[in-house]
Amino acid sequence: MTRNLPRREFLKTTAAGVVALPILGATAYASGKDTLRVGLVGCGGRGTGAAFQAIQADPGVVLWSMGDLFADRLTSSLGGLTENFAQRVDVPDVRQHVGFDAYQKVVQEVDVVLFATPPVFRPMHLAAAIEAGCHVFCEKPVAVDAPGVRSVLKTAQVAKKKGLSLASGFCWRAANGHRSLYNRILKENAIGDVRHVYATYLAGGVWYKKRQEKWTDLEYQLRNWYYYSNFSGDHIVEQAIHSIDKLLWAKNDVMPISAIAMGGRQVRTDEKYGNIFDHFGVVYEWADGTHGHLVTRQQNGCHSENLDRIVGSEGIANIDGWANRFEVEGARPWKYDGPGNDMYQTEHDELFASIRAGAAMNQGVSMAHSTMAAILGRMSAYTGQRITWEQAMTSKQDLTPKSWEFGTGIDVVQATPGKTKFA
Ligand SMILES: NC(=O)c1ccc[n+]([C@@H]2O[C@H](COP(=O)([O-])OP(=O)(O)OC[C@H]3O[C@@H](n4cnc5c(N)ncnc54)[C@H](O)[C@@H]3O)[C@@H](O)[C@H]2O)c1
Repeated sequence: MTRNLPRREFLKTTAAGVVALPILGATAYASGKDTLRVGLVGCGGRGTGAAFQAIQADPGVVLWSMGDLFADRLTSSLGGLTENFAQRVDVPDVRQHVGFDAYQKVVQEVDVVLFATPPVFRPMHLAAAIEAGCHVFCEKPVAVDAPGVRSVLKTAQVAKKKGLSLASGFCWRAANGHRSLYNRILKENAIGDVRHVYATYLAGGVWYKKRQEKWTDLEYQLRNWYYYSNFSGDHIVEQAIHSIDKLLWAKNDVMPISAIAMGGRQVRTDEKYGNIFDHFGVVYEWADGTHGHLVTRQQNGCHSENLDRIVGSEGIANIDGWANRFEVEGARPWKYDGPGNDMYQTEHDELFASIRAGAAMNQGVSMAHSTMAAILGRMSAYTGQRITWEQAMTSKQDLTPKSWEFGTGIDVVQATPGKTKFA
């Protein structure tokens, strides 16, 4: 088996091992016994989890190729996966790829690719995967800036034309309780017209990796990608995006027309925290006069919660996703009493079912729009200005370094509301 096989050849597992079979088109995957080669790019916590879920989603999945920027991350992920699924992991040395170009090799070797790198790489990786003819699962967020979002929207169109599945990691959309409640609101008039949406994502700080002597400046920054808005988009884009995605869901995926936001660094004052803020508050405005409020914080020792509140003309929906509580009060009271589910597993179950059925799913537009809405909030908080959706979508600010090579780090620029200019 060489890595230069035509992309749509696929494999069949036999008692003797794995053999290549000729391409039969999208329906070639119809039988659950035909092997689907899966590649993982970004072998950290979430990527490793996604590979677990992909393997469990379909009996024909074999983890076939892996890519990471760093060998130690790949090795430890591969070790854990092999320990759990020895028969379903077939990633010899030649299919372990390390470095900035690892993704290019992985997408040439597989049928389905999972992306869980820091978000800055997503637009470039997605474009390469769809170009190579892979079905894709990609984690949120899918970009850190507007050029990235525009690129993802283009890629999503190409995926559609090619009949390739493109699934996103906006996992709450795959959670039973959420689905049940949002369906009731959007399709069964559970609370009348949605007049106001409100969300909190209040949590503690995140991990930090102490500098090692051998690391260049860029390696140090990429090991600590979370703290650099160029790489993560800031925590409003990396984490609170889940709540923003749910605000948009409640608005039936109609995008806001503007945002007014604030935020800053109250406790993240040390240089080691790069340039991201530790709190944001955003007011989104929709064309129909609806407003949406988001508050998010990453500060230790403070109150934590992750709630959504959707106020309608005839009732109010309250959601506590962490506690699996979904309730409607008002004219038609209701409480979700169905089973919970592993939403991460459901995402993969549905993706692989779509591939098997030859009925591509494509979440490209909604994942790009939710990402843009989060970036819009950051843009407004960083500049201190009211920013419109139109301005944000057409922004030319490109946070991606011109080229990717280890050595000099990126300039760490901290935003100052009122002084930082919109670009
Ligand atoms: N849906 C969810 O609930 C959820 C939860 C956690 C993380 N995530 C998302 O998953 C992504 C990864 O997060 P994580 O917590 O796993 O981070 P992580 O740091 O644990 O993993 C990221 C991995 O990507 C690797 N990497 C960095 N640059 C790369 C490149 N150019 N090519 C290949 N590999 C590269 C890193 O070395 C690391 O192994 C983020 O986008 C994050 O927002 C989603």
